[in-house]
Amino acid sequence: MIPISKPDIGEDEIRAVEAVLRSGYIVQHNKTKEFEKEFSSYIGTKYGIATSSGTAALMIALESLGIKEGDEVITTSFTFVATGNAILYTGAKPVFVDIDPRTFNMDVDLLEERITEKTKAIMPVHLYGQPCEMKKLEKICHDNRLFLIEDAAQAHGAEYDGKKAGSFGDISCFSFYATKNLVTAEGGMCLTDSEEIENKLRMIRDHGQSERYVHQMLAYNFRMTDINAALGLVQLKKLDAMNEKRAKNAECFTKHLKDLNWLETPFIPENMQSSWHQYTLKILEGKRDEFLGHMTENNIQCNIYYPIPLYLQPVYRNLGYKEGLCPISERVSKEVVSIPVGPHLTEIDTKVIIDTIRNFK
Ligand SMILES: Cc1ncc(COP(=O)(O)O)c(C=O)c1O
Repeated sequence: MIPISKPDIGEDEIRAVEAVLRSGYIVQHNKTKEFEKEFSSYIGTKYGIATSSGTAALMIALESLGIKEGDEVITTSFTFVATGNAILYTGAKPVFVDIDPRTFNMDVDLLEERITEKTKAIMPVHLYGQPCEMKKLEKICHDNRLFLIEDAAQAHGAEYDGKKAGSFGDISCFSFYATKNLVTAEGGMCLTDSEEIENKLRMIRDHGQSERYVHQMLAYNFRMTDINAALGLVQLKKLDAMNEKRAKNAECFTKHLKDLNWLETPFIPENMQSSWHQYTLKILEGKRDEFLGHMTENNIQCNIYYPIPLYLQPVYRNLGYKEGLCPISERVSKEVVSIPVGPHLTEIDTKVIIDTIRNFK
């Protein structure tokens, strides 16, 4: 079976983790600080605050900006559940915007009509590693005095106008979960240029602690360990090379699949560079289930990210969100299929994937 993803863990990662284990400093210590410094400088922000997961990063980002019950946060209707749940945890209301069917990202032109006097922040997601329309988003946030929080969980190294995704928002949030472009097993990070926000994020990550055993507020333990950070430091050195392999695989798929009229290959605007976290096809004519069956029969693992628009998940339906809110997300969620694109693919694998897709029908 060709897996949809596989973490690229080599001897360097194993040695780095072993060294931490042997050092005796296994929780948050120097490696975490080093990883925060290196990753924030790679993306192009002043500060990095490492967390235990991407979800934790989103939660402390919203809290640090004072978002609370009675507020509204605008986000995309087509994303992983963590994006919306982080908003729910603050007590604020997630307000969902439909997507652009070509990019799968929040349609910025539909966004302004969702702004109310309760809106405090906009949280775009760079889905599949493709940056959102950041110039327009920055302007809307600036004009309406709203915070911009980037959910960059899938976008390590992606670029918009030559600038890295994750360097635009008041805060951006990354995930380093096992399937991501950069892996620490579990882990995440908030990035910011504001010292004031940085201090709040550090406190909220660590029991609201401002100095040893002085706790200013009710907060969490969302710390990253040095074991994860050591892994992340090695992965960061390889990130550009791993992303180049992804881009090469993606280019090869598009070249050899774009003539097929029963599917659509991904569309990346000229001024953007995807991190190719996923290579996602749209399977047209209602053939997706058949297509998935064909791929599985041929030992190629594919996945659907995401089969249900976020607001139609049971947890959101129970809050009163209903069908018809974002029709494009509802349609696209029935068409998308992600195929393997990671650096684990050999040249033979990419050829097998292309041939198998072309043999469908
Ligand atoms: C868009 C998005 N946001 C948030 C998260 C949450 O990250 P984590 O799984 O590290 O908590 C993920 C992870 O899958 C994600 O894809």
